[in-house]
Amino acid sequence: MADSDKPIEEAAKLIADSKHLIAFTGAGISVESNIPPFRGKNGLWSKYDPSILDLNVFYSKPKDSWKVIKEIFYDFFGNAKPNPAHLGLARLEQMGLLKCVITQNIDNLHQAAGSKVVHEFHGNSQKLVCTKCHKQFTVAEVNMEILPPNCDECNGLLKPDFIFFGESIPMNAYEASVAAAEVADVMLIIGSTGEVVPANQIPVIAKQNGARVIEINPEKSNYTNLVTDVYLCGKASEMVTRIMERVDNHIKLNTSTYG
Ligand code: APR
Repeated sequence: MADSDKPIEEAAKLIADSKHLIAFTGAGISVESNIPPFRGKNGLWSKYDPSILDLNVFYSKPKDSWKVIKEIFYDFFGNAKPNPAHLGLARLEQMGLLKCVITQNIDNLHQAAGSKVVHEFHGNSQKLVCTKCHKQFTVAEVNMEILPPNCDECNGLLKPDFIFFGESIPMNAYEASVAAAEVADVMLIIGSTGEVVPANQIPVIAKQNGARVIEINPEKSNYTNLVTDVYLCGKASEMVTRIMERVDNHIKLNTSTYG
């Protein structure tokens, strides 16, 4: 076996033998769906001022904020499609191995790939909410040619249903993610720097509770020397595809041994 295959083989075996596998994903898993990451070269925060996602700025200059939000999250991201990494996680769930995806992403690509149990730590850009009466809207129900968009019931300002800086994490996503991390025996981290609190604590909780951690990232992250047991240095699509090819073999082996 080539040296580069060894970590893939180790990851595939951990996944095939797992009893409670969970995945934790960041912007990196969507880069090959043409959604740029937030940090690093070509990162969104090197082109846009992160203050566009500051709650106070949004309320004080809704029209200016909405113009940039629409450009990034609706015009640019809007047509993104799941890539083989998203599809691989959905397949692991269908195989009964992956119990949930905990994602920091708001792009809805895990659901679009077929994943059913997705805990969205930072919300979802496909939903909008009225800041006055809290009525919920889908993107299709909102005319974004007129900015800022207003509620058709109370004329309140509409806001994308994802977390702005200064906003609290959705409690149900937070609690479900911590509960999953506490019982996981294997965690697969894909494409995150581990920069953002409190999301970046989830892999730490999993590790503290005994999980073995596999990490996929072309660059080392805050996790690599902290919690990672098996580091796959590469892009999400390629690494997940290579793991999936081997997981099947391990399952056949396990079945024939214990079948
Ligand atoms: N495959 C896998 N990982 C990749 C790829 C790829 N093709 N391309 C880049 N990466 C990695 C980068 O090396 C980096 O570690 O993805 C990571 C992207 O890091 P960030 O942009 O910081 O994304 P993330 O960790 O998800 O950021 C967390 O920050 O601004 C907030 O709310 C925003 O959810 C986001 C949070």
